[in-house]
Amino acid sequence: MTTYLVTGACGFIGSNYVHYVLEREAGARIVAVDNLSFAANPANLEPVRDRVELVVDDICNFPGMLALYERVRPDFVVNFAAESHNDRAVVDPSSFARTNALGAQTLLEVSRRRPVSRHLHVSTIEVYGELPAGAPYFTEGSPLNAKTPYSAAKAAGDQFVRAYMQTYPAMDIAMTHCANNYGRFQFPEKLVPLMITNVLRGRKVPVYGDGLQMRDWLHVEDHCAAIQAILRGPKLDLPTEAATHPELLPIFDISARNERTNLEIVRAVLELLGKRPEDWIEHVPDRPNHDRRYLIEPAKLERALGWRPAVPFEQGLEQTVRWYVEHRSWWEAILARTGELAFDWGAGAAGSAPTGNPPPAGVGSSL
Ligand SMILES: NC(=O)c1ccc[n+]([C@@H]2O[C@H](COP(=O)([O-])OP(=O)(O)OC[C@H]3O[C@@H](n4cnc5c(N)ncnc54)[C@H](O)[C@@H]3O)[C@@H](O)[C@H]2O)c1
Repeated sequence: MTTYLVTGACGFIGSNYVHYVLEREAGARIVAVDNLSFAANPANLEPVRDRVELVVDDICNFPGMLALYERVRPDFVVNFAAESHNDRAVVDPSSFARTNALGAQTLLEVSRRRPVSRHLHVSTIEVYGELPAGAPYFTEGSPLNAKTPYSAAKAAGDQFVRAYMQTYPAMDIAMTHCANNYGRFQFPEKLVPLMITNVLRGRKVPVYGDGLQMRDWLHVEDHCAAIQAILRGPKLDLPTEAATHPELLPIFDISARNERTNLEIVRAVLELLGKRPEDWIEHVPDRPNHDRRYLIEPAKLERALGWRPAVPFEQGLEQTVRWYVEHRSWWEAILARTGELAFDWGAGAAGSAPTGNPPPAGVGSSL
């Protein structure tokens, strides 16, 4: 039996990953760790609860994580746990710094003290910052150039991952940077489910600024497949030249080379819902310091492991819209708990929390 310790398993991608593994590995045992922060939804794991042990804990809790490793003896650790909602990071950066940087390091340290077969840290395209005009894409060798509180916190976690890879070469560590994901189980503060749940309740769709921000979109199943290919793939090389050539570290960028403007995504979703975009789009003030464009290139992953995205974008988006239409009780339960989830940036960088759901306070003050 193979034991997976999956952190952030009640969130969007973590819960999709748990389903992905259980559907393909009859003998897999999953230990899910989540501190049940605002975006967590244990209901995502309900259909597989008999095969999942859910441990409610914080990845920053070193003694708790150490005791958990000693008890369950994981073969593989996949760290999805993060504060991931960009709008909230502007309002409350401290909770992001804590989980995304300190939490990442805490988990690495536990994997160093209680070795596992492979530790995979899930990071994001956003650590590379904004793509300069005319530049084709980022690669694994691009410098980290985070410019938002979310991406800065993730980049700090990345730096610890790179440091652990090189300082403790006996550890087997991999890291991924993924493009924007879409699919089922996504907290309805994010663009795709926010749009769908608004329209299904007869509300307009807020589009930040001109809506021409460019994003790179990947179906969540393709992300899960890439993670699994890396986690279960052959031994990862760590040549000494990696010290000065970071593209040689066991880091993989994951993308379907599917770049769209936010406005294109909004129009596509509205059309799938049978609505005329002109009637439903409402341009609202943009989030401060909103990245205009980022794009990564998955050539390294394709070459090394033969991974390819399997879900065509149009088909994946259509399936996703249908899922939210058919699972109204799933998102209505979230909205009943949180209140409205749209942010109003009319007041500028001071921002305003979504009504009824102020962001959680961080450990330090974010004032
Ligand atoms: N969503 C995307 O498009 C995307 C793209 C690329 C990378 N990523 C990365 O993938 C990972 C998962 O993203 P997601 O969209 O599923 O996020 P999410 O916010 O939906 O889920 C994160 C989960 O982590 C849990 N969590 C937060 N802090 C924790 C802590 N201190 N201890 C334990 N659990 C904690 C939350 O309760 C939540 O269930 C993140 O690391 C994110 O940076 C996301």
